[in-house]
Amino acid sequence: MNRPTILTGDRTTGPLHIGHYAGSLANRLRYQDSHDQFLLLADTQALTDNAHDPEKVRRSVIEVALDYLAVGIDPARTTICLQSHLPALAELSMLYLNFVTVARLERNPTIKDEIRARGFGRDIPAGFLCYPAAQAADITAFKATVVPVGEDQAPLIEQTNEIVRRINTTAGRAVLPEARAVIPKAGRLPGIDGKAKMSKSGGNAIALSASPDEIRNAVKAMFTDPNHLRVEDPGRVEGNVVFTYLDAFDTDQNTLAELKAQYQRGGLGDGKLKARLEAILQDLIAPIRARRAEFAQDRGYVFDVIREGTHRARERTEATKRDVVSALGLFEL
Ligand code: TRP
Repeated sequence: MNRPTILTGDRTTGPLHIGHYAGSLANRLRYQDSHDQFLLLADTQALTDNAHDPEKVRRSVIEVALDYLAVGIDPARTTICLQSHLPALAELSMLYLNFVTVARLERNPTIKDEIRARGFGRDIPAGFLCYPAAQAADITAFKATVVPVGEDQAPLIEQTNEIVRRINTTAGRAVLPEARAVIPKAGRLPGIDGKAKMSKSGGNAIALSASPDEIRNAVKAMFTDPNHLRVEDPGRVEGNVVFTYLDAFDTDQNTLAELKAQYQRGGLGDGKLKARLEAILQDLIAPIRARRAEFAQDRGYVFDVIREGTHRARERTEATKRDVVSALGLFEL
């Protein structure tokens, strides 16, 4: 049976949150049955904008691995591997940098947005500017054809395919496959404050490891409709974070539609709505938190999972590197 290969991953900059769950982890659980799935603990890429804090990047490798295992990623069906320990990724990155121009890297919308968001200006780490080429190396080293990513990452897949076509043209044959970005329909979950991006550093995230109190307080602080002052006032559903989260996590969409109508008419208080969301999030996170705590007790097992996955990934990525070197006709000793 030939399953299509999927490669995705996460920068190791901190524990994952419910935005990751809604946007990617829930899908990754399903892909385990239909695809040959690789998950990359992207510690090298994390360094491209966290070089000042290598300790955080190191620590977060285990945090993210724990999150994967806690939500039900099964290492027997999904290969969890560590970017920094796959030398072929670094070697292919260096090679690919010769197939992309600085102008093209600077024009990449993902990079442009991130440079702006981080206030880099011209003081951008070279590794950061070049990470699209490194991500192209990640994807192609596994010969992945399906790359599920958030909408913000789509330009990286486009740039990957440009590099792939250049390499294939130079080689005179299709040594690397092109990849297809699969963007989740749901879109990105906003932070609890209503800001577009949920992030731990922004202080507006609910971690998958959140305690019951943290969940309760986060829901309490959640942005709703600032003009919805009295229960009987009509309220807005659009831009109301509680409804956005209910859209993502409430399995009873009929009741949710009724609640929206009632809220818009007036007569439904934020407190009641938040109580519903809190119960849903407590139910979602409780088993994840419990499994996470169990795995955290057994670090040896987590290390073994990463070590074995990385070993498997190494064979595959080394084979691709040899293919590319040979297809380009470079010197082989
Ligand atoms: N850029 C992704 C993120 O920000 C992580 C990542 C690294 C990745 N390499 C990848 C995603 C390859 C998809 C494919 O989390």
